[in-house]
Amino acid sequence: MAAEPLRDVAALLDIYRHGLVFHSLCAVSRLSIPDRIGEGRRDIAGLARETGTDEDALRRVLILLAGSGLCDVDAGRSTVALTDRGKVLCRRHPLPLWATFATFGIPDVGHALTGTLKDGAPATRHALGVDFWEHLAKHPDEQLVFGEAMAEQARLLTLPCVPLLDWPAESTVADVAGGIGVLLAEILQEAPNARGILVDQPEVLGRARSYLEEQGVGDRCTVQPGDLFAAPPRADVYVLSRVLHDWDDERVAEILRAVRGSAQDTAVLRVFEDVLPDDGVPSPLQGWADVAMLALYHRARERTLPEYRRLLERGGWRLERVVQGPPGMCVIESRPLATA
Ligand SMILES: C[S@@+](CC[C@H](N)C(=O)[O-])C[C@H]1O[C@@H](n2cnc3c(N)ncnc32)[C@H](O)[C@@H]1O
Repeated sequence: MAAEPLRDVAALLDIYRHGLVFHSLCAVSRLSIPDRIGEGRRDIAGLARETGTDEDALRRVLILLAGSGLCDVDAGRSTVALTDRGKVLCRRHPLPLWATFATFGIPDVGHALTGTLKDGAPATRHALGVDFWEHLAKHPDEQLVFGEAMAEQARLLTLPCVPLLDWPAESTVADVAGGIGVLLAEILQEAPNARGILVDQPEVLGRARSYLEEQGVGDRCTVQPGDLFAAPPRADVYVLSRVLHDWDDERVAEILRAVRGSAQDTAVLRVFEDVLPDDGVPSPLQGWADVAMLALYHRARERTLPEYRRLLERGGWRLERVVQGPPGMCVIESRPLATA
């Protein structure tokens, strides 16, 4: 066989291996195994006893992860230590990703993508039988891990945008579907005279109050259970962070109209999203986020700027400017369109 086909075969086998590494990371994160190795080298037999896992299976998975530089298994195959890269899966890491892996691993959604390809319905629905939000609402332990995953991603993607924007003093900032309040806490720390309103589903807000207190902004923040499709409390600045990409166009327009319904003409809306290039050239790096949306939520998608502009107009907003954040994040700033 010519050299080139062999190279192509090797590249595909490498992707297959990466897939197994991904599933192994989801599994060990869900079982909090990295946290138990994070303190130093551990005996694999003891680790298996502590985590209620099968020793042989655990050893083999750890050896796979060692091959990807995430841990080190000794030559006798009896102990394991995490590398610095593997420590990113520990809760105590400064920028942890354990919940991000644990969450995508919850329903093993990846396997249900075959169903998605056939009918466009999210893989979560195929795997779980219900919408992802409904599943989370019924499983408080998984809801907590999901909330933590959102917090991890917020630290990487949205918090670096906060100092790039002006947060008016004495203003009220409403973070709609703001999760446990990671972004809102950062905004209130940046704007020490501002007040915050955090809106999300009641089951998410349980963790929010303690988080805001820990961040020292609890006294300037109201936590308000609310529905994304109803008008939020009145504010000067509205934030929708990584919310619109969870919904189809109809629902996005509804969300934007609901916020517009609460806003005075002087208000500003800041939408934090990854914006796809609109030059028609496929962007493989952004493709993963788009397929993650396809897998998780009903008709959810990443969008281009013209698509956001049109949806904002349908929802009563005029796009004014875009502020580029770190790779994979922009802030789209809009003002209310005059009401007819
Ligand atoms: C992808 S997360 C983003 C969280 C946060 N804004 C961030 O950037 O990390 C979407 C949020 O929407 C909330 N959500 C989903 N459906 C909702 C609804 N019907 N009403 C209120 N919040 C909702 C979820 O609880 C979740 O916190």
